[in-house]
Amino acid sequence: MAPRSSIDITFDRASQNAKMYRLWSDPGKPYARNLIANLSELPPYGSWSLGKDDWKDDHVKGKENCGRLYHGELSWYPVPGGEVVPLPLHVAVKWMRGERMVNQLRHEAEMYMGPLHRLQGQVVPIFYGFFTGKIEGVHIGCIVLEWCPGNEWMTFGKPDQKELADRWEAVQLLHRAGVKHGQLYKRRDSLRLWEGRHFLRARDGKLRIVDFQQARKHDCAGSMRPHEDLNIHLDHKCRELCFAEIHLRRAIEGGPDFKTPWLPY
Ligand SMILES: Nc1ncnc2c1ncn2[C@@H]1O[C@H](COP(=O)(O)OP(=O)(O)O)[C@@H](O)[C@H]1O
Ligand SMILES: [Mg+2]
Ligand SMILES: [Zn+2]
Repeated sequence: MAPRSSIDITFDRASQNAKMYRLWSDPGKPYARNLIANLSELPPYGSWSLGKDDWKDDHVKGKENCGRLYHGELSWYPVPGGEVVPLPLHVAVKWMRGERMVNQLRHEAEMYMGPLHRLQGQVVPIFYGFFTGKIEGVHIGCIVLEWCPGNEWMTFGKPDQKELADRWEAVQLLHRAGVKHGQLYKRRDSLRLWEGRHFLRARDGKLRIVDFQQARKHDCAGSMRPHEDLNIHLDHKCRELCFAEIHLRRAIEGGPDFKTPWLPY
């Protein structure tokens, strides 16, 4: 049997309806430890749906191909000689039901383990594992990530020069690692609140880019030099890096009240 690791996930541990599920890593892809996670709901309830907004209360039953983001505390079963980690370790758990979304999570996990490996804990969250299982006939999958307390992006205002500089720096590192995110900037002529949802702040206050479900490996056409002519580089390949740079440049040239329109959605 190909080796696997497990995660034991408990929902609502303190309540009467506590539920525990065991999920597994992909065959032949074990992690160093078998994990234990205690999860709790994030308020406000509706804001943390993943994919469609059709989540029903049950973790397993309900519409397929959607999910929830949970906050959790992570620990693990002891391993001989294993290190002692200061607890609790706060994590985000992306929990999905339905085969299509589970496969998207697998893709995201491959990004974290592959090209993003060295950026974990710097520009992207630390990745603790990807686990799946079939529960009551339903495909379930989850990804466990470093918790970013600065995830209240609905309350972020227009990003200032410093924020845009941090975002530009982070996007550059992503592209240098050969990854295009695919959901960071929509337009070159305006900034949107919605874009902030993938630029979060970790506990150390540093930026973390999240959500690699639609990310692609990518040979960066933009290189690491500042673009001489931004229009030349607006090709498919490096639009993302280019937009990050355009927004920063506008903020630098326009001063504290730079004119890029701000769209609160
Ligand atoms: N590691 C994390 N820590 C805290 N909040 C997170 C974390 N990852 C994602 N989130 C929050 O959950 C939202 C949805 O997660 P995301 O990975 O973008 O999934 P999707 O786009 O599929 O809904 C993010 O916009 C962010 O607000
Ligand atoms: Mg997202
Ligand atoms: Zn690029």
